[in-house]
Amino acid sequence: MNIAIDGPAGAGKSTVAKKVAGALEYVYIDTGSMYRALAWAVHHHALPIENEAAVSQLLQDNVIHLRRVQGEQHVYWNDTDVTAWIRTSEVSQFASIVASYGAVREQMLVLQRNLATQGNVVMDGRDIGTHVLPDADVKIFLTASIRERAERRWKELREKGLDPDLSEMEKDIAERDQRDMNREVAPLRQAEDAVLVDTTGMTIDQVVDRILEICERTGESR
Ligand code: DC
Repeated sequence: MNIAIDGPAGAGKSTVAKKVAGALEYVYIDTGSMYRALAWAVHHHALPIENEAAVSQLLQDNVIHLRRVQGEQHVYWNDTDVTAWIRTSEVSQFASIVASYGAVREQMLVLQRNLATQGNVVMDGRDIGTHVLPDADVKIFLTASIRERAERRWKELREKGLDPDLSEMEKDIAERDQRDMNREVAPLRQAEDAVLVDTTGMTIDQVVDRILEICERTGESR
């Protein structure tokens, strides 16, 4: 069984997807980290972000892969583990720009479909249910209000000892939502057969239980 979890930035997809995968003993695949790795490389090599052809060529000439390291998923740009460097605000903004490029998405689609051929994966992203795995057995569209999503990110960063500005974070999330939803290629939208889960006011465990329930029901009806 393959499970697709899509939704906007900060809806808790990765935390929830990781837990669902753990509970089912499935493999977790974070597709956002692949766009982030490319964005990191664009930044690292000081490539002009607006040059779609150059960005796409950079992806073609290099290798992104995911590997489990001590139970956690790490993302590699060739042999470099870039996991620790891909969550900055700059890389996040770059990621949503590279993700709007058709030539980049085409290559990512191939990589991601290959990763799913092993079966029993929980894949999270923006276009998994609509494009990458249109035949996924379970499709979840996870969302929450912008305010709540910003607050969650804010708390996460505070716990890491940073002092982020909440209203800046709200602006950041709203801006990324706009870009992700309005791009021409594979925009963020709920697949027709996806179940909408609005996590505003829900705890992580409540969301995980809800998704496991949906998976169980799907398993039973097959
Ligand atoms: O989920 P995330 O914040 O790590 O994703 C980073 C960026 O990549 C985000 O702007 C949306 C984009 N993305 C995408 O377009 N398609 C995916 N399947 C995953 C992420």
